[in-house]
Amino acid sequence: MSIRENIKEVLISEEQIRNRCKELGEEITRDYGEAGVTPLVIGLLRGSVPFLSELIKYIDLDLQYDFMDVTSYEGTKSTGDIKILKDLDTSVVGKHILIVEDIVDTGRTLTAVVDLFKKREAADVKIVSLLNKPSRRVMRIEPDYNGFDIEDYFVVGYGLDFNQHYRGLPYVGILNDDQY
Ligand code: IMP
Ligand code: MG
Repeated sequence: MSIRENIKEVLISEEQIRNRCKELGEEITRDYGEAGVTPLVIGLLRGSVPFLSELIKYIDLDLQYDFMDVTSYEGTKSTGDIKILKDLDTSVVGKHILIVEDIVDTGRTLTAVVDLFKKREAADVKIVSLLNKPSRRVMRIEPDYNGFDIEDYFVVGYGLDFNQHYRGLPYVGILNDDQY
């Protein structure tokens, strides 16, 4: 059985994502180009992988990339502590960091990761997210570059999972209600 049968609605198509990645990549190229700096692109595992792969095709800069895996502790509202499951292999000292995330939800994960890189003496920390759910925000943080604002749906595909499934779908979709 195809897992695509469990998708109620395609919210954002493969083509829409590709077009938006092109726009974001051009914007990033322009901004960093004008500043005369090259970004260290940091993908947050595992959800950011398809987005990072598509996005970097359109960033015409001598960039480097690395990955990090973190989980946010639920319930620690104010501090946004994270546990590092896999750390970077690259130093961030003096680097212009561009964090790539699949979705900004409460904002806890990104708040903690941004704080961490600042503490580690990065020159600058910016965020690019494929999706953004502004209505769910708990922390005061916004992506510097954002693909799409979405309503408070639980979405899967293009890296986003439900219990580790559906990450491979080429689009962002909404699950059938009977899948929860
Ligand atoms: P935050 O710390 O609440 O912003 O957490 C964001 C993380 O929660 C993302 O990196 C995703 O892994 C996960 N997440 C939030 N919303 C969704 C969703 O609709 N589908 C799948 N994962 C989600
Ligand atoms: Mg995540």
